[in-house]
Formats: sequence, C-alpha cells, structure tokens
Amino acid sequence: MKVGSVEKPGVLKLAEREMPGIKNADDVLIKVKRVGICGSDIHIYHGKNPFAVYPRVWGHEFVGEVAETGLGAKSVKAGDRVVVEPITSCGKCYACRQGRPNVCVDVKVFGVHADGGCAEYVIVPEANVHILPEGLSWDEAALIEPFTIGAQACYRGGVQNGDYVLVLGAGTIGLTVASMAKLYGGTVIVSDIVDGKLDYAKSRGADYAINSAKEDLFGRLNEITGGMGPNVTVDAVCIKKTFEDAVLVTSTAGRVVELSFNEIPSEIAPVHIIKKELSVCGSRLQTKRFPVVIGFIKSGQLSLAGFVSKVFPIDQMAEAFEYTEKNNASVRKTLISFE
Ligand SMILES: NC(=O)c1ccc[n+]([C@@H]2O[C@H](COP(=O)([O-])OP(=O)(O)OC[C@H]3O[C@@H](n4cnc5c(N)ncnc54)[C@H](O)[C@@H]3O)[C@@H](O)[C@H]2O)c1
Ligand SMILES: [Zn+2]
Ligand SMILES: [Zn+2]
Repeated sequence: MKVGSVEKPGVLKLAEREMPGIKNADDVLIKVKRVGICGSDIHIYHGKNPFAVYPRVWGHEFVGEVAETGLGAKSVKAGDRVVVEPITSCGKCYACRQGRPNVCVDVKVFGVHADGGCAEYVIVPEANVHILPEGLSWDEAALIEPFTIGAQACYRGGVQNGDYVLVLGAGTIGLTVASMAKLYGGTVIVSDIVDGKLDYAKSRGADYAINSAKEDLFGRLNEITGGMGPNVTVDAVCIKKTFEDAVLVTSTAGRVVELSFNEIPSEIAPVHIIKKELSVCGSRLQTKRFPVVIGFIKSGQLSLAGFVSKVFPIDQMAEAFEYTEKNNASVRKTLISFE
C-alpha cells in the first residue's frame, strides 16, 4: 500500500509498505479516502513541531471506509464510512480522570507522536472512530476534525447565546471557531489582515469583519459592542500581539481562549486580567467534540460545502504541500485523495 511520510525535516516521501493486519479485538482497519493537510503537518515537514518523531506517517485529519474489524468491535462494521478521532490517552492521569484526555500526560496524536492517516490503510482502536452522517461527501467529512478544534475553543470559552465573540484570525482554524460560535448563538466578529479571508468569513455567517491592518480594532470593537468589548475572544492568529490584544479588548467577566503553541513571552500586566476578572484559558485539540460537530451536520445547521480549496491525488503529495504553503492567503484546506 502507499504511504506518505515526513522522513526527516524537509523530506517528504511516498513509499510502498505492507498492509497492516488486525491484531487486537478492538482494532478497526480503515481504507483511507481523504487526509487533510493542516498547518501542524507543515510544521512537522519543516521540523518545527517539538513533539514529532521522525520518520513519521503524517496526517491527523482523515476519513475512510471500514475494511475489517477485530472480533470485539461492536459499534462499526465493514463498509461503514467513518472519521477518525486522532488522539489516544493513558486513561489514568489527572487530566484523563477529569475527562480531559486531550491534555493527558501521555497524549498521542496520530501523525505527530504516532503514525497517522496518510496511508491507504490504517488501523485504529474502535473507540476512535465515528460514523459519518449519511450523504456527507468525503471532502466535507475530512473537515470534521478541524471543526472540532473550533468547537473546543467555544466550549473552553463558554460561548453562550447572546455573547459577542471575537475571533482573531480568519484562517482555517479561525473560520471553524467563527462557525461554531455562531451555532452557539454568538454575535461573531472576525478580524484578519487579508480582505479575502474576511469576505469568506462573512459569507459563512460572521456578523462583523474587521481588517485590523486598515482599521482601528479597538475602536471598531467599541462601536460594535457599545463600549463593552467582546465577551469571549479566541486567538486564532497566535502571535504575541494577538494574545495581548485578546486580554485587553475582552469585556469584564469575559473569557479569553488561547490556541497558540507560541513560545514567545507576552507583556500583559496582571491588572488587566484581575480588574475584569477574566478567565484566560488554553484550548488544545479537542475532547468529546466529534459527536457535537457531527450532530450539527446531521441537523443541517453546519454546512461544510465549499470549504475545501483543492484535492490532490496521493501521487501528488509533494505538490499538495507546496500548493498549501505558497497560497496561504487563499487556501482554506487542501486534501489528499486515495481514490
Ligand atoms: N490549540 C490547538 O488545538 C490548535 C489546533 C490547530 C491549530 N492551532 C494553531 O492555530 C493557529 C492558526 O492556525 P491556522 O491553520 O488557522 O493558520 P492560518 O495561517 O490559516 O491562519 C492564520 C490567520 O491569521 C491571519 N493573521 C496573521 N497576522 C494577523 C494579525 N496580526 N492580525 C489578524 N490576523 C492575522 C492570517 O491572515 C491568517 O488568515 C496556528 O498558530 C496553529 O498552530 C492550534
Ligand atoms: Zn489539523
Ligand atoms: Zn492520561
């Protein structure tokens, strides 16, 4: 079978490998149909992900058809169309016992700490597969994982009906946050420095768009929220300035959700957090968000149509990475197809 890997930083490789076989009772063999290229896959490619171990079959956003199951697998059967939840955890540590396996001390992400989905066949535990809504195309299904990241950010920020939600950044992740925040009843304000990204965010239902390179972000937020500031701010740009802005603009009693893995320190005086009694929290990966996103798709409230920018056949994996990197200003999601 064909397998796509990052052999070492800077080297993508397409190779033939033996097909994996069922070993454990709860194993599910999946014939992969699509795998999405995420910013973090590009970081792994460039050796910029501190958690990645090489060589590594990349890919944590993948969907496919169940080909075979172990004897103990009861919830899925051959032929089912599924999306894979790409995280395993120890089940014992404090985070796991708190129901937060996404921050398990021993969390393993497929495609990062363990081999991922860029392979014709992949084996995953039964607990990691979710059956797709009927009629959902493979292209749309491959977007479920990124939308769980948006759902997690809203959950961590406690987005409630009527909240003003500011999403800094209308990149792939910012768009998923904005969509989910809208579904939770937020009035959504998106900021970016690229007009095309903001136009797309508005076409997906964002209520306000601010180009912070051309407009005064703080002034516009004051206008929109009547001087209150957004109640929830999610940083999906992930630079020093956007973290600082997030703390400064958020309303009293508000929540700031940080998505950044950035190691650059910020200069935020504690008084800005205390004075407004802000809750400042991180949001990493997701926990229990697959059923939430799938539920919104099933009910017809969340549409993923038109989100994918381009699909490349597996033989053009290198071209797909190049296209994604070179067109950052316009690409939302690039997929690899195994069909
Ligand atoms: N915590 C998590 O679980 C998690 C998961 C996925 C991604 N991330 C992080 O989220 C971040 C965004 O990922 P992405 O895939 O959406 O990236 P992206 O490059 O698609 O999006 C970033 C967006 O920010 C915009 N931008 C750049 N500078 C700006 C500024 N000064 N003000 C406003 N907008 C600005 C860009 O135009 C772009 O639209 C990355 O840092 C990534 O590591 C975190
Ligand atoms: Zn991703
Ligand atoms: Zn654990």
